[in-house]
Amino acid sequence: MDRRSFIKTIGGSGLVIAASGFSLSGCDQMPESAIAPWNGPPLGLPDREWMLSYAILAPNPHNRQPWLADLSKDDEITLFADPERLLSHTDPFGRQILIGHGTFLELLDIAAREKGYRTQITLFPDGEPAGDSLEIGNMPVARIQLEKDVNVSSDPLFKDILKRRSNKEGYEKAYLKAADVQIMQNIPLPAGQKAGIATNEADVSPLREFARRAVLKEIETPRTLLESIELTRIGADEIAKNPDGID
Ligand SMILES: Cc1cc2nc3c(=O)[nH]c(=O)nc-3n(C[C@H](O)[C@H](O)[C@H](O)COP(=O)(O)O)c2cc1C
Repeated sequence: MDRRSFIKTIGGSGLVIAASGFSLSGCDQMPESAIAPWNGPPLGLPDREWMLSYAILAPNPHNRQPWLADLSKDDEITLFADPERLLSHTDPFGRQILIGHGTFLELLDIAAREKGYRTQITLFPDGEPAGDSLEIGNMPVARIQLEKDVNVSSDPLFKDILKRRSNKEGYEKAYLKAADVQIMQNIPLPAGQKAGIATNEADVSPLREFARRAVLKEIETPRTLLESIELTRIGADEIAKNPDGID
């Protein structure tokens, strides 16, 4: 079960869409309201709200849906991390929350292209947060300027947005194929960043062990375990009331 909730907006046209929900599979108690966002936006939404209705389907940690969008200026969206939807124990520096905002921006850009807009995205327009997760809730994460452009091309991934979900099934023990490694190595990285790709058991097994110990640490630490327990929704009523949280 996965779930998504809603986006809050400041200014502009107020509440965007009742985009609450869980995903598609396997729960016979699933309230209709909770899966509505996967039907796509309702007819007649203004362009920015239409784009946002796709962006909110982005993967995000603990499915907190930590989005807050300011639509008070024309042709612009300012994105904030909702200070009420941070994970102060499992994500004290807001690292995961901000990765979620990155995925949101990607989907927003893909949806904007579909409507013929070019996006100009400025990350941390008022400066980068320096401290803990409380700080990321106080300053904009991104400013997105939208400009109509006849030369903008649509993205082939657009048609898959309503189908995307995180795979929570067990993974086969398999390594990346050389051709896929090649593709990943060709992805340009921002200046100063590097990436490594583990392609054999000797390289992978220490990482697997590191991840195993990290999970244990989180589960054995009462305050981090509690944060996750409190975000687990069980049963149709709870899902309908709070369509966010982890599976
Ligand atoms: C930064 C980040 C960290 C995540 N960490 C985990 C994790 O540790 N375990 C897990 O099962 N899912 C993890 N997820 C996936 C989220 O649970 C998932 O994106 C969310 O429930 C929404 O579901 P969806 O991706 O299927 O739309 C993570 C996602 C992000 C963006």
